[in-house]
Amino acid sequence: MANTAELILEGKSYQLPLIVGSCEEKAIDIRKLRADTGYIAFDSGYGNTGSCMSNITFIDGEKGILCYRGIPVAELAEKSTFVETSYLLIYGHLPNKTELDNFSHQLRYHSMIHEDMLRFYDGYPSTAHPMAILSSMVCSLSAYYPDSLDPKDPAQVDHLVPRVLSKIRTIAAYSYKKSIGQPVVYPQNALSYCANFLHMMFAVPSETMEIDPDVTAALNMLLIIHADHEQNCSTSTVRLVGSSDANLFASVAAGICALWGPKHGGANQAVMEMLETIHKNGGDVNKAVAAAKDKDSDFKLMGFGHRVYKSYDPRATIIRKNCDVILGKLGKKDPLLEIAKRLEEVALKDPYFRERNLYPNVDFYSGVLYRALGIPKNMYTVMFSLGRLPGWIAHWREMHLEGDDRIYRPRQIYNGPTTANYVPIEGRK
Ligand code: ACO
Repeated sequence: MANTAELILEGKSYQLPLIVGSCEEKAIDIRKLRADTGYIAFDSGYGNTGSCMSNITFIDGEKGILCYRGIPVAELAEKSTFVETSYLLIYGHLPNKTELDNFSHQLRYHSMIHEDMLRFYDGYPSTAHPMAILSSMVCSLSAYYPDSLDPKDPAQVDHLVPRVLSKIRTIAAYSYKKSIGQPVVYPQNALSYCANFLHMMFAVPSETMEIDPDVTAALNMLLIIHADHEQNCSTSTVRLVGSSDANLFASVAAGICALWGPKHGGANQAVMEMLETIHKNGGDVNKAVAAAKDKDSDFKLMGFGHRVYKSYDPRATIIRKNCDVILGKLGKKDPLLEIAKRLEEVALKDPYFRERNLYPNVDFYSGVLYRALGIPKNMYTVMFSLGRLPGWIAHWREMHLEGDDRIYRPRQIYNGPTTANYVPIEGRK
């Protein structure tokens, strides 16, 4: 294969280097395009733009493949724990026993937040969305670590990694407690990462509580499959903010805000609201499919479609399978699961969805599972944030310690007025 592509512009020929990734992903290197030709590449939404080289996660959207550091996500979901998978994503290899013990110890040891931060919760209205609380509390954490914020110092970065993973879990659980008016439950460090989170969410100080191992296992699986997804909107946001050398907390807080939107992580809450509406209106899924196809309506089938996957999202396959298993184990039946399955069946037979390669994505079934675990709807996107944390950290760390940390600064095509003068207010129409 040639190692350059030829570009002919205004009669002049330019040779652009080609790049091939370890899984045969191909790119044309246009880093010198503007300097050499005066042109920029136009790619709104970045659908064709590789913004970095990364060793963390590989996706083949046509074949429905997703691997973390080369390991298929289905294998990790079945055999690993969220803590081990986090280590894998962040440090590049599965930890040996000593590494895992040390990492787990760090996560346990750093589970509390500064007591002063508890008072921040008093300032939010009880109706505050937990994502609003989470994002601002995470940014506030940077105020407590002024000596560990240098992204270029590996020791400082490694000092923060377990703190970010552990404390954000605590902040998330406290956000929920705030929203239901219950006192916070302090972390119990004898518990595993996921069991500790469930305990902080569902225990009350006046009673003892046993955590169901099936619920803990299901949560581990859910967090693992959300753990990374290469250059998605929130991870690109974390990298973009981090590229200015903003600290890890500030960068992750920005990622949380990006994830909140219903086109991204907020879709899991939107899916459940859609399923509830269908259920309330008698369960007719055909109406929802028809509305999603109607170009005069803004309605989209939430949990369907993906920028990268043009076949079934492998994460949706895993969650769908687990919905049956876990609801069965917990002895629960959920009419919303039946509606979701019917909706999928009707949509996948419909030419509109087939022609556009629109399949269920990770968010389509995750809400049903969260609901079975007792997690309330407004916490679904918070759960996604917890899952995505190791991915955000891994990308931020890779950019600063291993990769190309040039500041992200896209260009634009300006299309506004060419010349205009300031008009005093009396002279304006
Ligand atoms: N329902 C109905 N039509 C859809 C849907 C949908 N869910 N998704 C895409 N389409 C249509 C578009 O209207 C467009 O139609 P057209 O060619 O006639 O104009 C075509 O399919 C292509 O879609 P785009 O919007 O160009 O795809 P894009 O890659 O920009 O968007 C996105 C992907 C945002 C995920 C989109 O599919 C969507 O909004 N889905 C619903 C929200 C959702 O589930 N988001 C979660 C994504 S997964 C995640 O972030 C964790």
